[in-house]
Amino acid sequence: MKKDIYILGLETSCDETAAAIIKNGREIVSNVVASQIESHKRFGGVVPEIASRHHVEQITLVLEETLKQASMTFEDLNAIAVTKGPGLVGSLLIGVNTAKALAFAHQLPVIGVHHIAGHIYANRLIEEFTFPLLSLVVSGGHTELVLMKEHGKFEVIGETRDDAAGEAYDKVARTLGLPYPGGPHIDRLAHEGEATVDLPRAWLEEGSYDFSFSGLKSAVINTLHNAKQRGIEIQPENLAASFQQSVIEVLTVKTVKAAKEFGVKQVLLAGGVAANKGLRTSLEAAFSETEGVQLIIPPLSLCTDNAAMIGAAGTILYEKGIFEDLAMNGYPSLDIEQG
Ligand code: KG4
Ligand code: ZN
Repeated sequence: MKKDIYILGLETSCDETAAAIIKNGREIVSNVVASQIESHKRFGGVVPEIASRHHVEQITLVLEETLKQASMTFEDLNAIAVTKGPGLVGSLLIGVNTAKALAFAHQLPVIGVHHIAGHIYANRLIEEFTFPLLSLVVSGGHTELVLMKEHGKFEVIGETRDDAAGEAYDKVARTLGLPYPGGPHIDRLAHEGEATVDLPRAWLEEGSYDFSFSGLKSAVINTLHNAKQRGIEIQPENLAASFQQSVIEVLTVKTVKAAKEFGVKQVLLAGGVAANKGLRTSLEAAFSETEGVQLIIPPLSLCTDNAAMIGAAGTILYEKGIFEDLAMNGYPSLDIEQG
């Protein structure tokens, strides 16, 4: 009988300090997230220096809580997996150095995980992967379609050429005077309004799976400014609904097209924007009509940054014997294809 594998995951790439213990890559034993959102809110976005300081303050507490909830000690673990990039370098370094120190002290192997690989593997905590599969990754820093034919190998078939979807949500929210992070607020507002404002959809060249959201973002900002100058009132909920409809339509149409072209068996949704109710509903409707494709959408708590996903992705590297040494660094713009 195969022995169980227990991996401790650590995540500090942005504004959540998180640790989790994952059994056999698929089962959450414990999962703790300390969010810093309240500290960054008044600045309208994440302040890197503040983020690093919070990570330093929180990491030990989060770690202790994670072991306590699992009723485990370091002796029960097989390895420590940590997000090594991409992300804010000061934030990444807190996780990376914690992982290295713990690995050294407890004689455990250390594994470096790509943050987006983590977001994708959050889905494996819900459902076993069937290849080939396509993942729509939509977060604050990324918007990409990632094709996978086997575990741990990622092929980016399309990505944003400018803003990430979450970034566009946050900027539009800011223009509407909504607090950071704006995504959930726009999502809520959009459900109260109607898509009455005509906004562009960036389809790009025929056959491209790339995205672009900066034109849409500018169109929203211009619409608001023009209306203000002319003294016309625009209902924020209608503008939010129109913006959300444009984002969702492009994401859904391109995902369905790619799923068909590459003949995938599963489509996974990943990243913070995967929490968007409109997007979830739109993908569910689209894939209920696409035969032979299983759509997987993680629960909200696994869509936003967490360490369970890092433990899940790290387990694959553990099984492949891909480890880091103590020279591991934080890599702010790490490429998922190179890993
Ligand atoms: O993956 P994530 O937690 O952090 C990054 O790795 O970027 O994603 C955060 C992003 C933010 O831009 C936030 O506004 C967005 O996810 N977000 C949403 C929703 N919930 C979070 N965007 C749209 N609708 C939501 N319900
Ligand atoms: Zn993320």
